[in-house]
Amino acid sequence: MAALNSAETIGPAKASVPPAGIGTESDAWVLETLRRYEPATMHTQHPVVWDRASGSRVYDRDGRSWLDWTSGILTANAGHARAEVVDAITEQARQGLLHAYMFPTRVRARVVRALSELSGFAQSVLYTTGAEAVEGALKISSRHAIARRPAQQPGRRPVVITFEGAFHGRTLGAQLAGGLAAQRDWAPELDEAFVRVPFPTRGEAWSPEVIEAALREIGAGPEDVTCVMGEIYQGSTLRQIDPAAARALREWCTRHGVLLVFDEIQSGFGRTGALFAYEHIGVRPDLLLAAKGLSGSLPISAVLVGDPSFTEVVRPGELTSTHSGNPISLAAAEANLALFADGRIVAEAARRGQQLADGLADWVAGKPQGRRIIGTMGMIAGVACTDDRGSLDPVSSRRMAAECVERGLLVCVPSTLGGAMLKIMPPVTTSESELAEALAIFEAAADAVQLG
Ligand SMILES: Cc1ncc(COP(=O)(O)O)c(C=O)c1O
Repeated sequence: MAALNSAETIGPAKASVPPAGIGTESDAWVLETLRRYEPATMHTQHPVVWDRASGSRVYDRDGRSWLDWTSGILTANAGHARAEVVDAITEQARQGLLHAYMFPTRVRARVVRALSELSGFAQSVLYTTGAEAVEGALKISSRHAIARRPAQQPGRRPVVITFEGAFHGRTLGAQLAGGLAAQRDWAPELDEAFVRVPFPTRGEAWSPEVIEAALREIGAGPEDVTCVMGEIYQGSTLRQIDPAAARALREWCTRHGVLLVFDEIQSGFGRTGALFAYEHIGVRPDLLLAAKGLSGSLPISAVLVGDPSFTEVVRPGELTSTHSGNPISLAAAEANLALFADGRIVAEAARRGQQLADGLADWVAGKPQGRRIIGTMGMIAGVACTDDRGSLDPVSSRRMAAECVERGLLVCVPSTLGGAMLKIMPPVTTSESELAEALAIFEAAADAVQLG
């Protein structure tokens, strides 16, 4: 385990415990009321009633606190409730403009310009959630493809290429684009509209020929494809894309006039030690999907468009959404984007990511028989517990997560990989000492549940 070092870094100023949140109900009342008025499917997280959160910590009403290894599911990258973001939200609310639909506003103009300046992409299409941005990218790609192929035979429908193991959200289109069959078994299968091919995992041989072979099977060809959509690392398994395969994919898309879409809804805004993870592989997509860390808080997402020609064929109004460009969300995004402007958060994320990787490697080296690193990339990592035969052991992983929560560390166990992976995703502004503290809790929890 990395040595404790008290040097503070770029995280929020040493947070004093924030005052209690609004409402006087007891935690027991909250849990019972949610149980009664929501379906059981909504209750998959630890029964910790969040009252407030600041920097890398979450607090309950009684003053208990947890170091947050969830970042509110990869959202609070720059830390929970940054003062800059809170102030911007408050100021915008005080100004009295809470909603504006698609009418022009100053804050909207400032944010789309800031997004282009930060990312180098020409345009932004704003939405509210990640899944909505995915749906928007599917529509833009489809319009682009249809317009490029006016001679296409009538009745021939566009095909979307995605990857096995992918996760793109839970709305119908996003779920069909996803490559996790078990998550799609509720959905009507739109035969041959979504073709999923093996993911080009780092270090494994892969060629775009797998796409062409899959297309041949359904009597289609590259000319039918609207876009290839993928992640730089798959959130479901933390497998990373192979850089050479990504370059081959880029070349294939360019050759056939197919848009390359990288879904960086999870991997953007410093998570991997780069502003966007695609920078690690040097392959630039045509459309880049951003959400979660974009505002670090309120719901806002964006399709970043590499070239205006990709959107000029979209019909007027076709990409609208009632709450896209909500002024309060935009104010949060503007303040958050400003935090990322000088690159210091991202640079620090890369250093903290190394500390995380080293700490986890030490943890595994201590007792290699019960522990396995699934993958690390900057400030995202996955580890799993294993049984005597080295197989993934979801029971131990769940016990580990529960023990961590008891000891003051929030960590998620996603349903993928048989529920055996502990997914580690601290705010990227977590300080060196906070990360060392969290790693020490993790190690103590493993000892307590007698892992390995
Ligand atoms: C890679 C990726 N794409 C899309 C989504 C969907 O985003 P949202 O939950 O905001 O709809 C997620 C959410 O976890 C994601 O990780």
